[in-house]
Amino acid sequence: MKHADLLIHNATLITCASPDGPKRGPALQDVGQIQEGAIAIADDMIVAVGCSADVRGQVSAGKSIDARGRVVCPGFVDAHTHVVYAGDRVQEFEMRIQGAGYMEIMAAGGGILSTMRAVREASVEQLVAESRDRLDVMLRLGTSTAEVKTGYGLSTEAELKMLQAIEQLHRSHPMTLIPTFLGAHAMPPAYKKRPDAYVRLVIDEMLPAAAAWYERSPFAATNMPLFADVFCEAGVFDLAQTRQVLAAAQAQGMALKLHADEFENLGGVSLAAELGAVSVDHLDVTPPVEMRRLAESATVGVVLPAVNFNLGSQHFADARALIDAGVALALATDINPGSAPCPSLPLTMAIACRYQRLLPNEALNAVTINAAHAVGLGQRLGSLEVGKQADVLILDTHDHRHLAYEFGRNLVAQVIKAGEEVISE
Ligand code: NIG
Ligand code: FE
Repeated sequence: MKHADLLIHNATLITCASPDGPKRGPALQDVGQIQEGAIAIADDMIVAVGCSADVRGQVSAGKSIDARGRVVCPGFVDAHTHVVYAGDRVQEFEMRIQGAGYMEIMAAGGGILSTMRAVREASVEQLVAESRDRLDVMLRLGTSTAEVKTGYGLSTEAELKMLQAIEQLHRSHPMTLIPTFLGAHAMPPAYKKRPDAYVRLVIDEMLPAAAAWYERSPFAATNMPLFADVFCEAGVFDLAQTRQVLAAAQAQGMALKLHADEFENLGGVSLAAELGAVSVDHLDVTPPVEMRRLAESATVGVVLPAVNFNLGSQHFADARALIDAGVALALATDINPGSAPCPSLPLTMAIACRYQRLLPNEALNAVTINAAHAVGLGQRLGSLEVGKQADVLILDTHDHRHLAYEFGRNLVAQVIKAGEEVISE
């Protein structure tokens, strides 16, 4: 008999198991359901998974939860967030309702630059306090791990301040956070007339500073990656600048992500695949030839339909075509104060099912196992398999498809993070 601290049994168990990497094609429709299922947890790890009778026979557990009538599934992984910021942009929300465009507001010095001003003025403590409230909401909605980008500092000092805020939140909040350096998120006003000088500043000063910060951080100590990302878009960073920044980041040992094809197709998906990026995100206007290129690569494609919804757009990334081409697809919120003030992965799933024709099972795999691969942690998180970290949700429903079918209510009853109950009923 193995010892376990916690047994959860008699559940509709949704494992999202995929031992050979992210799910693609028809495999995305399989969520690994076990009726009358159970998992056993010792310390922070899953030590047994299977039918309740089998698991009960394998372990002696200190505590048990009878989850009859309920779904037990992996904690959600939000693979693309800008959750660390200060202030809000509710006035831009009103401007867009009255007809202004997202990129138009940015070109006029608002948008990301408006949040840059708020972040530059904020202390680390303020950034941590404001962002902690958002992480609390995300955790309540089932997100147990989130990638978090910098990119509202746009100076070496302010980008480092954002990294420090991410580190403090990671140390003090139950959620696992994964840091991404996004110094190339927008052109700061002082460099508007000499954009290549800003690219040089990112490469020569910011990337080494971020790499040095990482080496002393708890992330390096626990073998978690540091990512670098670029907003590759017309009027922001072009493909040549993007290549320069990503290549330099790779030379510093960073793993790569990319914002590509949100509004215009510049070839970012092919670049991401060529450089071996872990993920490439948005994909709203990716042409079929680049979808195929992505499908042949190990790079995960991340779609962010809360952005299209929030911008009132009728156009969404063709997630159906991406899946059918064989792309390893993940879904994320992109939570940020401008294009997606949305903390909820279940709502994002609901949007993806309606506007991108994902089935609820595909959407669930896209926020669990595939999302874990999109942040480089697919071997540790994202499914209920023996040897993985015990990040587990208990849902107040008998059918996991209700996560996407219903919307606007929270079905998450309990969250267990690394074996600890962090949200209780
Ligand atoms: O992923 N597109 C670029 N960056 C973010 C938006 C950030 C913001 O508007 O503050 C995005 O949509
Ligand atoms: Fe983004």
